[in-house]
Amino acid sequence: MKTIILAGGSGTRLWPLSRDNFPKQFLKLKRMDKSIFQMSFERCLKLTGLEEIYIVTNINYKFWVLGQIEELGYKFNEDHILVEPSGKNTLPAIYYGVVEIQKGGDDIVAVFPSDHLIEDDDGLTRVIKQGEQLADKHVITFGIHPKKPHTGYGYIRPKEPLTVGYSVEEFKEKPDLETAQIYLEKGYLWNSGMFMFKTDVFIEEVRQYCPEVYNAFQLSDIKEVYNNTISISIDYGIMEKSGRTAVIPVDIRWSDLGSFDTFYEKFSGDENGNISFSDVTLINSVNNLLYTNEDKAVAVIGAEDLIVIDEKDALLICKKGYSEKVKDVVNKLKSTN
Ligand code: GDD
Ligand code: MG
Repeated sequence: MKTIILAGGSGTRLWPLSRDNFPKQFLKLKRMDKSIFQMSFERCLKLTGLEEIYIVTNINYKFWVLGQIEELGYKFNEDHILVEPSGKNTLPAIYYGVVEIQKGGDDIVAVFPSDHLIEDDDGLTRVIKQGEQLADKHVITFGIHPKKPHTGYGYIRPKEPLTVGYSVEEFKEKPDLETAQIYLEKGYLWNSGMFMFKTDVFIEEVRQYCPEVYNAFQLSDIKEVYNNTISISIDYGIMEKSGRTAVIPVDIRWSDLGSFDTFYEKFSGDENGNISFSDVTLINSVNNLLYTNEDKAVAVIGAEDLIVIDEKDALLICKKGYSEKVKDVVNKLKSTN
């Protein structure tokens, strides 16, 4: 088996902690001694040897990838860092890894994003082993029992039981709120963003459902490939269309560090629900997330449900519940600068 780590996203919803040249997967948040990329890497090492890991990223992040792996005490084969000439979303990124792996023959591949926390690594190892039973016929996803009608995830409706997991009745990426609510009532699962398949199966599905990506990868020069491929996620490009998808429900204490609202849910607050990462004087304040600079005194009075992220050169103040919109701020800043 081989593993692919996707580490090319820019994580705009965690601005100003996450920046274009330093995205969230490489961040070492206060209270954590490793970045989520490093945690993903170590998770892969529980599944495969060092030589079986492939990382797809872009040239600006290659240095971070190498440096953070070295920090963990490993010497990584640079040939296994696949550098994309530009970001074309997750389908071309995964396909790039799959095509490289396929050069050594058909193999089982597990794909991991690098923007998640998984607290039960052993549980994950167990389900990945189970997934191997389905991999020669299916494109497998791992389903999370949803907690709320989040519109940033893919939703999966299980159909019939297989040897492990289920076949899939429907996969719907990022539904609107009303639809997500209905899905919750109907027992859909969230897509965890991790996938597993045999390379032959995946290549065939891409040929059938996303010929633009398949054809571009027939070209020999990777720059040409990326100039010719469309930008599309695996979720829209394959998972919504393929008839060979399967889902294995998992309970691995998974959380997505997608936005500051999910960030707030992840960490535990004090008795008033406040989460602060340095000394903050709090008076009559409840349920706030305060990520502030250690070298200044910070006081908060009468605040409720606020997210305050204070960096040297940027300050974000956002009402809880609105943090998905942080990406709009980044887009605005980009268009005005
Ligand atoms: N190499 C590379 N190139 N990696 C990329 C690219 C790219 O162009 N775009 C995104 N990634 C990486 C990100 O760094 C992240 O680790 C992973 O691929 C997933 O991309 P996101 O952009 O974070 O996807 P999402 O969160 O909107 O949605 C996906 O994850 C959800 C779970 O968190 C989907 O798979 C959803 O269906 C799923 O529910
Ligand atoms: Mg994500």
